[in-house]
Amino acid sequence: MITVLGATGNVGAQVVRELTAAGTEVRAVARRPAAAAPGVQPWAGDLGDTAFLRRALDGARAAFVLLPFDVTAAGHAAHQARLGGSVVAALRDAAVPRVVALSSLGAEVPGGPDLARTGYLGSLHEQEQRLATLDAHVTRLRPGLFLESFLWSADAMRAHGVHADSIDPDVALPMVATRDVGRAAAAALLDPDAPAVVEVQGAADRTVPDVVAALGPALGVPDPAYVRVPDDEMEQLLRGAGLPADGARLHVAMNRAFNAGRIRAHGPRGSADGVLTVEEWAAGVAA
Ligand SMILES: NC(=O)c1ccc[n+]([C@@H]2O[C@H](COP(=O)([O-])OP(=O)(O)OC[C@H]3O[C@@H](n4cnc5c(N)ncnc54)[C@H](OP(=O)(O)O)[C@@H]3O)[C@@H](O)[C@H]2O)c1
Repeated sequence: MITVLGATGNVGAQVVRELTAAGTEVRAVARRPAAAAPGVQPWAGDLGDTAFLRRALDGARAAFVLLPFDVTAAGHAAHQARLGGSVVAALRDAAVPRVVALSSLGAEVPGGPDLARTGYLGSLHEQEQRLATLDAHVTRLRPGLFLESFLWSADAMRAHGVHADSIDPDVALPMVATRDVGRAAAAALLDPDAPAVVEVQGAADRTVPDVVAALGPALGVPDPAYVRVPDDEMEQLLRGAGLPADGARLHVAMNRAFNAGRIRAHGPRGSADGVLTVEEWAAGVAA
């Protein structure tokens, strides 16, 4: 049996699909889990509740873990530290021998004061440090930017034909569909020899304008534009959209790290066979 945290999320739901297709029993953890299905037991609870998590992990031969991201939570770093500490304490108490942890490219970089060096990713760096204290075989899964993160601006693209952000338009980044992140996570969970770090780089490095050009038509916007907003204006835009001040600051700091090349892959890109390109992913959104 394998316990999957974040089992209804972009990545976790794919992990559940892959594991059950491989004939593995799954405990699927979320605050509002999906209904039971063949091979899948729903476990409803909060990752901050260590005693609940300990039970959900009891007897698991492996676990998929993550640090769920709530852009609306004020005190982002403290919130992440609380959830991350609870997950690691429960893994330790339950003595789970095998862990695959969803992290990110750039999580190897310390966040520095106020997490200014890599923004949101500084909390994932701290979580990788906590996971390293476990007496377990831990694989840190480090994907590039999720293509699904562009869906946050779907309404703005439909309304104004524009995607706005503070990543430089000529910076090509590893971009990956969460379907492929979930596949990589499940493969690592089922591989006793999986390495300590698995980078998930997607089919090719692509720019933000590439993604906008593919996604616009999928959303019914034939000629979408990408607007590179100055950093301080981006922070104000995000505040106006309801993000707390620290969240807006961390988003812009993360983008600054993308622009400066601080968030990048270190190993060679694996085979792109069967990996969704940006255009294939966008066709799926349209469907
Ligand atoms: N976006 C990117 O480009 C990117 C790139 C690299 C890495 N990442 C990392 O990927 C992770 C997010 O993965 P994702 O997109 O698959 O997540 P997601 O789609 O937001 O799903 C989050 C999952 O966690 C559950 N959850 C949230 N808060 C919880 C809590 N307090 N207790 C228990 N369950 C909780 C949610 O279900 P309930 O709401 O029902 O609880 C859901 O199943 C983050 O760590 C992020 O930093 C993101």
